[in-house]
Amino acid sequence: MSKVRAYTNIALIKYWGKSDSLWNLPTTGSIGLTLDQLYTETSVKINDDLKQDYFMLNGQKTQNLKVMKVMNFLRNLTGDRRFVEIFSENHVPTAAGLASSASGFAALAMAASQAFGLSLDRKELSTIARLGSGSASRSVFGGFSIWHAGHDHDSSFAESILDPLNFDIRVIDILADESTKKISSSQGMQLAQSAPNYAAWCSNSQKQIDDMLTAIANSDLEKIGLIAEKNALAMHELNRTAIQAFDYFTQNTRDIIAATKKLYNSGTLAFATIDAGPNVKVITNSENQSTVIETLKNYGEILVQKAGPGVTNV
Ligand code: PMV
Repeated sequence: MSKVRAYTNIALIKYWGKSDSLWNLPTTGSIGLTLDQLYTETSVKINDDLKQDYFMLNGQKTQNLKVMKVMNFLRNLTGDRRFVEIFSENHVPTAAGLASSASGFAALAMAASQAFGLSLDRKELSTIARLGSGSASRSVFGGFSIWHAGHDHDSSFAESILDPLNFDIRVIDILADESTKKISSSQGMQLAQSAPNYAAWCSNSQKQIDDMLTAIANSDLEKIGLIAEKNALAMHELNRTAIQAFDYFTQNTRDIIAATKKLYNSGTLAFATIDAGPNVKVITNSENQSTVIETLKNYGEILVQKAGPGVTNV
C-alpha cells in the first residue's frame, strides 16, 4: 500500500461558483500556487471484507460524502465494486485550523486510483480530485497551475503553468482566530452567484487569467500580486451583495488588508488574498518578507510558505 502526499494551494484567481454541483464544474477557470508547508498524507487499500468504505481522518473514523463520491467514481470507472480503507492525516504545523480539502482530495485521487491499479496521468488525476473539491484539481500540480472550467468531466481539468518557479515568491499566512460562523465554500459560492455583479465578475475573471498568465511568464511579482488582490477582493464583494448577503471578513481581516495596502503604498511588495474564511494571506518575496512580518505579526500567528511540489508517492 503506497502513501501519497499532496500540499495545499492558494488561488490567485479564485474559483467561486459552480455551473454543475454534481460534477463540480466551475463557472470560471482559476489559477493556484501550490505551497510547501501544509500537506495531507493518505493511503488507500482495498479490503475484500468491507461492506462500505472505511475512512480514518487524523485518527478518527469519519463519514464524508465527498470521499464517497470520489470512491464511487473510481468503482464505476474500473468496474471493481470492492470497498477500501482510507487513512488520511493532515499535517498542519500550527495550532490554527488550516486543514484543507485541496490537499486532501489531491492525495485521495492519487492514492485511491493507485489502489484500484490505475496509473493515471496528472490531468486525469486532477479531474478525479476535482470531484471531491474543486480547488484540489490544482494541488495535483506543483508551483503555478491552472484549472480550466471546461463543460464536462473530462474537459474540466488542471494543468501546470510553471513548476519549478524561476523567481522568488513567498506567501505569508496571518492566522487569526476563526470565531465567526462558518459558511462552507460550496454554500458561500452558491449564495454569491445571486449577486448582481456575478456575471461581470466571471467575465472579468477570464481577462484576469490572461493577465496573470502573462505576469507569471514575465516573473512579474508585482502584477501577480495586484491581479490576485483585485480578484479576491471582488470575490468577497460578491458575498456582501448576494441576495442572502454574508461576509467572511472580520475586523481583523479588514485591518490586515489595510495594513497590507499601506505597505504596498510605501514601497513594499505585499498583496492580500483571502479564501472562504477570515484569514489573510500576503503575497510577497524573500526580500520584502521581513518587513511584511514585522508589520503584520501583531494581527495573528505567522506562517511563511514558498512554492511547493505536486502530489507524489512518499
Ligand atoms: O475547493 P473548494 O470547494 O473548497 O472551494 C475553494 C474556494 C476558494 O478557496 C475560496 C477559492 C479557490 O479557488 O481555492
